[in-house]
Amino acid sequence: MSKISLFYLSILALLASLLSACSSNGPAMVATANPHASKAAALMLEKGGSAIDAAIAAQMVLTLVEPQSSGIGGGAFLLYWQNDENKLTTFDGRETAPQNAGEDLFLDKNGAPIPWRVASIGGRPVGTPGVIALAWKAHRQYGRLPWLVLFQPAIKLANDGFAVSPRLSNALKKSQDALKRNEEARQLYFLPDSMKPLPVGFMLKNPALAKSLAVIAAKGPNGFYKGPLAKAMVEAVNTYQGNPGFLSMEDLASYESVERPAVCAPYRTYKVCGMGPPTSGGLTSLMILGILENYHIGNLGVGSATAMHLFTQASRLAYADRDVYMADDDFVEVPNKGLLDKNYLRSRAKLINPLKDMGKVKPGAPKGAELAFMKTAGIKQREYGTSHLSIIDGDGNAVSMTTSVERGFGSHIIVGGFVLNSQLTDFSFRPVKNGFKVANRVEGGKRPRSSMSPSMIFNNDGSLYATLGSPGGSRIIEFVTRAIIGVIDWNLPMQASFDLGNVHNRNRITDLEKGTNAENFADQFKAMGHKIRIGKITSGLHGIRITPNGLDGGADKRREGTVIKVGE
Ligand code: DON
Repeated sequence: MSKISLFYLSILALLASLLSACSSNGPAMVATANPHASKAAALMLEKGGSAIDAAIAAQMVLTLVEPQSSGIGGGAFLLYWQNDENKLTTFDGRETAPQNAGEDLFLDKNGAPIPWRVASIGGRPVGTPGVIALAWKAHRQYGRLPWLVLFQPAIKLANDGFAVSPRLSNALKKSQDALKRNEEARQLYFLPDSMKPLPVGFMLKNPALAKSLAVIAAKGPNGFYKGPLAKAMVEAVNTYQGNPGFLSMEDLASYESVERPAVCAPYRTYKVCGMGPPTSGGLTSLMILGILENYHIGNLGVGSATAMHLFTQASRLAYADRDVYMADDDFVEVPNKGLLDKNYLRSRAKLINPLKDMGKVKPGAPKGAELAFMKTAGIKQREYGTSHLSIIDGDGNAVSMTTSVERGFGSHIIVGGFVLNSQLTDFSFRPVKNGFKVANRVEGGKRPRSSMSPSMIFNNDGSLYATLGSPGGSRIIEFVTRAIIGVIDWNLPMQASFDLGNVHNRNRITDLEKGTNAENFADQFKAMGHKIRIGKITSGLHGIRITPNGLDGGADKRREGTVIKVGE
């Protein structure tokens, strides 16, 4: 695109933003993982934009300032609440496996799974990115500001530069060896003389990203899924030395974001809703809550060991089913109804001993279940590769969006100033186990199973109570569910709920978060038979509650996020 046409586009964007009517008056709020992204979202709301407009502007800025976590080269799930219609919908922008990727994608010549560390860097794990298609689809229906306007904060910041944050600098250090294999990354993220990763405070400009965003701003999804940018992505993926992938121009051109019904279940006097398959997040979270509903968590101490023991047991049971039954339900039958059936969950809850850890538990047999065995890749969970943002606009419309490039810096391929995802490693590396096809095996066009859990909570009159979510790999589900329990069972403010120590059991060991109240459970848990591990556990919860006293937001102190209030 010529400089002149970009100039005219910017003028147009400016005019459009000046003309856009300020139609919403109530208080609004944004909570994202980075101050620049929160500011961009707040700016859109101030201009009269909707929660969707704000989310898209924030996502474009996150592509620049938190590239290790999310961006236009990745995928996302978004819950959207349209307040005046009392309508909840979800947008699925999950990456898809290229059509030419077979179920042996992650197997070596001898049929053995390739080690995750090797498989996850390069072209092989790159799925067809979904963020731009999702943003476009959501904006067509629920956007208020012109598409073009949403890209201006990110384009400006990419041209002007921003100070590298501690988390970005640290992520660069950790990923430096793999990033150095990519020419664009070498130029973008390293000091030219020493080739050291950029330090904290370095003013980073990303003109290549500014250019890519300007093209997408002007042309819509065609600027991303077709033409020079698409060609550059395909070439980078398929020519990656030692670990090439299978992305084609057809995969990009045919990618579609899908609108799906939310999955919802009652919890106490509320209704909790999440994203359905291909993420396991919503279903697993609702299963944990459904099992815990058989106990009076609210009467047990806030974040107490007794309550959190029950949480670990419910979590064991839910993860056991998740491992076996959940995958992309466009390809396999997921027994959604059976898994959330009250009687089924009650029967599972009966297996819990409030005084003793049950140990590794077998999956149950919910109605409608087809048996398949899922073997996860057995990876050490990375904490950098995903981001969550929550927004409520002045009309009470809300967004809960979790967005990801998978591991920190995804595939470590940078094209057009952005990171390409490594999301296909969320598939089972083995297609068959014990003679059964694995539900979450690789298939062309299929979406890998996710744990992302963008969530919303509704009051019993159907009005919105809260929107929240988190990054954190397969621990996301527990982060979010624990926070939901915090605001419902213990009536905590959003921030206080996020501040409670993280406790996990994904049907393996029990993890307690170091340096928090959770660490104090160690002796009591050991006495109950738990095998425990104490360590750093970095959630990234961002959420907003609607209270009689106004909006109440929270940003996880374990990350760099901020909450911004707009209006009021
Ligand atoms: O979709 C998923 O569940 C994962 N790919 C998310 C990865 C993640 O959250 C990494 N760390 N924050």
